[in-house]
Amino acid sequence: MSVATEVAFAAEQTGEFAPKRLNHLAYVTHDTAATVKFWTEVMQMPLVEAVMSDRVPSTGDPFPYVHFFFRMQDGSTIAFFEAVGLPPRTEQAHPAYLVFDHLALEVGTQAEVDEWRDRLIAHQVDLIGPVNHGIIYSIYFHDPNGIRLEITTPLAADWNDRPEVARDIVGSWLAAKREAEISGRPADEVLRQVIAAHNAHE
Ligand SMILES: [Fe+2]
Repeated sequence: MSVATEVAFAAEQTGEFAPKRLNHLAYVTHDTAATVKFWTEVMQMPLVEAVMSDRVPSTGDPFPYVHFFFRMQDGSTIAFFEAVGLPPRTEQAHPAYLVFDHLALEVGTQAEVDEWRDRLIAHQVDLIGPVNHGIIYSIYFHDPNGIRLEITTPLAADWNDRPEVARDIVGSWLAAKREAEISGRPADEVLRQVIAAHNAHE
């Protein structure tokens, strides 16, 4: 199977036509009680909306479910569905999925990240960090559904406004994948080389 390695970067995008903000991100839960307890008591996000139906409106699937929403300060929400009789999820095929798939929520300052750390420890939540990534400062933990969460604050004011850096890195990554595909060299070997060369220039 061919790997998609070419992308046309749109020039000079300002983002003015991008969606305005996160409305909701929705996950499946098997335990509404534990989810409400964690997201209201530990995450301090009020439960602000819920709907219940015996049929999914968008697809017509006959899955009885409840769908409920917790709100952040900017009005964006994290939502859950519990449906009747769902079996547990299948195991992830590789541990990387458990690390990379995550939800990062922003707080105001580095001191606030530290306060969140104390608060999570007081609630007996296992966590990693703080980790100083240079551009952001973060702690990592899981909700009762196994969703990997990050509480973070930016350390660089322009952390989300570096389109040239982004295009350079994504472009290098795609070029390396393409080179691996054409040359037949192992992709991880080519990619490690590109990463090392990039880091040496920093
Ligand atoms: Fe993250």
